[in-house]
Amino acid sequence: MELVRELIKCNLFKDGNVQIVALCDNVSEAIDRFVKQYPQFADVPRYTSYDEMLANAKTIGFTWVMIASTNNVHYEQICKAMDAGLHVWTEKPVAIKEEHLHGIEEKARKNNVNVVVGYVLRHAPFYQKIAEMVKRIGKIGSVYMNETTSPWHGFFIFGDWRRFEEIGGPMLLEKCCHDMDMFLRVTGLIPIRVSSFGANNFFTQRNAFLFEKNPELFCSGLLNDKSVNAFTSKKTAYDTQTVMMRCSNGALATFSFCALSHDKSRVMEIYGAYGTIKADLIKGTIEVSSHCDYTEHNDGIVESVTMGRQNCHGNADGYNMNNLCKVVVESGEDDHENYDDSRGAVVSALLSLAADRSAKIDGVPVNCDWWTPEELAAAEVFEKDNIGWIVEYVEKADAEHMDTLTKICSKFPITASDSDKLNRYTSVSEMVSCINAATTAAASEAAAAAKFYARLAGGV
Ligand SMILES: NC(=O)c1ccc[n+]([C@@H]2O[C@H](COP(=O)([O-])OP(=O)(O)OC[C@H]3O[C@@H](n4cnc5c(N)ncnc54)[C@H](O)[C@@H]3O)[C@@H](O)[C@H]2O)c1
Repeated sequence: MELVRELIKCNLFKDGNVQIVALCDNVSEAIDRFVKQYPQFADVPRYTSYDEMLANAKTIGFTWVMIASTNNVHYEQICKAMDAGLHVWTEKPVAIKEEHLHGIEEKARKNNVNVVVGYVLRHAPFYQKIAEMVKRIGKIGSVYMNETTSPWHGFFIFGDWRRFEEIGGPMLLEKCCHDMDMFLRVTGLIPIRVSSFGANNFFTQRNAFLFEKNPELFCSGLLNDKSVNAFTSKKTAYDTQTVMMRCSNGALATFSFCALSHDKSRVMEIYGAYGTIKADLIKGTIEVSSHCDYTEHNDGIVESVTMGRQNCHGNADGYNMNNLCKVVVESGEDDHENYDDSRGAVVSALLSLAADRSAKIDGVPVNCDWWTPEELAAAEVFEKDNIGWIVEYVEKADAEHMDTLTKICSKFPITASDSDKLNRYTSVSEMVSCINAATTAAASEAAAAAKFYARLAGGV
């Protein structure tokens, strides 16, 4: 429903470019509830059988299916839609079983359809900003991430179908595949071995007194079914989990999930050879610090971004739906960078499942054996192309060596130049655009930038 609300906000329904022309839920009351909330869809044909709806695709005239059912039926519904020649936008995860994950991309290619996965955080400006900043901190050696949920959110999760792995998949997949996806996309690291422990430490019978003391707090997020008490309910999914990863470049990464905290959080800290990024999604803050700038009186922070308090989706539901509409409107052309990565959706799910497999055998490490030689090679290039690599060269560069520097910098994508900030650069793209402007002033500013980066490397 959240998504439909965002789709309505996109205004595309109004122009008729995107329309909802059929509704399906195997529980008819769920459709009734939906229509009660969105009466503008009261006349849309309703189906309690997905197969029947697909069989009517041509008559009704739809070309895309949007899947937001429980996780256990995603794979089957995606495959059936692809077989019917329909494009798919599906909620994460694409499947809850490893063996199902491997065939999806190929099937989409064969059937010439898009499979777009609802990884909402990919659209969050917050993570896009971190991805930009990663290039500045040199070779990544360590990553720390966490996710916690507030009391009402944890109670919601462990009160509905998500508490059963048979329906939602492991919690690390259902809840944290977003975090795995962001880890892979933002850092460019390739985990090769993963180990994990999981436990049920919070929503337990022993803690049921918490609910008795403050039922309003725990129930405040419940929309429909208030009959299940998350503390006393049967469940198969973990409510806390810790993951450790060793990556192909030697970097180590940890992630931890905890379902009961005083407040929600999503934190990402990336430690590079030349600097550190500390990012807190909910607070909307990102800080980049340089080890060379750190002194007793200076905390070394070279850039500080404040985006304001965000929700746990990085306020990106609207961007997510806007981009979906763009793809749909452009006749199924899959040209948006966030949407051409169904492989990314698959590998983040594989990583979640591998970690969970380790947790089921009490932390025994599991190999991440799904990476292709091309992906392993791309990770090496990603690492070489970061500022740590360029620093080796700019250290040697000065105004007389601008040609060398220009050549090296030309390997980087150039974005908008920002001539107001020429005194000191804190991003490679700014420096590169300045160099390419090739004016005398620009050349001397570029030399200043080179010095700055050389300082990052400890060179000056
Ligand atoms: N991107 C995000 O951050 C995010 C946030 C919330 C939910 N989700 C995902 O969205 C999906 C739905 O979650 P929700 O919270 O809306 O769940 P929900 O329980 O509110 O809705 C799921 C609906 O699917 C229906 N359903 C189950 N099997 C079906 C079948 N075979 N055919 C037709 N309908 C069927 C159920 O009757 C139910 O009404 C899940 O996959 C979840 O992981 C993603």
